[in-house]
Amino acid sequence: MSQQRILPEHIGIIMDGNGRWAKKRGKPRMEGHRAGAKNFRVITRYCNKIGIKVLTVYAFSTENWRRPSEEVNALMRLFYDYLVEALRDFREENIRTRFIGDVSAFHPKLQKLIAETEELSADKTGLVLNIAMNYGGRAEMITAMRSIAADCAEGRLTADQIDEELFSSRLYTAGQPDPDLIIRPSGEYRTSNFLLWQSAYSEYVFMDDILWPDFTTDDLERAIDIYSARNRRYGGV
Ligand code: IPE
Ligand code: IPE
Ligand code: MG
Repeated sequence: MSQQRILPEHIGIIMDGNGRWAKKRGKPRMEGHRAGAKNFRVITRYCNKIGIKVLTVYAFSTENWRRPSEEVNALMRLFYDYLVEALRDFREENIRTRFIGDVSAFHPKLQKLIAETEELSADKTGLVLNIAMNYGGRAEMITAMRSIAADCAEGRLTADQIDEELFSSRLYTAGQPDPDLIIRPSGEYRTSNFLLWQSAYSEYVFMDDILWPDFTTDDLERAIDIYSARNRRYGGV
């Protein structure tokens, strides 16, 4: 008897393996990042098409600043060029783009594009796309704690009012469902600081036979099938 397939509402993707993809081809790492950015658009459109509600992609972590400055600078340029294109192309798509992470660290020009992208797509009713840039789960939780502490200090909140719901509402993902499925290609079996709070009961699918630029819609379907066959118990029986 074949079971009905369950579609995740919220998918998270750690878009990893760009550098290794380029290395395998004897190309500079940036070629991998460019190929990865291109693929990101394909996968995003596909998620919208099949009815995924929320897609969160990890594009740049709070730790990625540790990379050589040439790579960081080139990545910033890539983000900029990408957003210019996205502003043009995504107009026709029913996708709402949001950014999660501390975007105030980016160049003012990039910040302006980020704000424009969010504004222009704010009324879209299809897929909600969260692009995690200068995102870290720990930094996100510290930001939430600071805002709660400030409210306590000002007398707007008392300690006993702090619960999971309140904490969730102070995160970048406020109001969104937690990720059901988190996919990481490239063979690394770790979270690397992605959605730490939100992933408490996420199903992880680590795919060690594929690097992000090569990740196809078939690979996404494969991950969804694996997810769909899992038994989510949330601590119950
Ligand atoms: C992921 O690819 C993209 C970013 C972190 C910006 P990597 O650059 O981490 O690729 P690998 O892990 O070196 O192959
Ligand atoms: C995680 O990948 C961040 C992104 C994909 C944007 P990393 O390549 O930075 O993670 P580590 O260093 O292998 O843990
Ligand atoms: Mg990596």
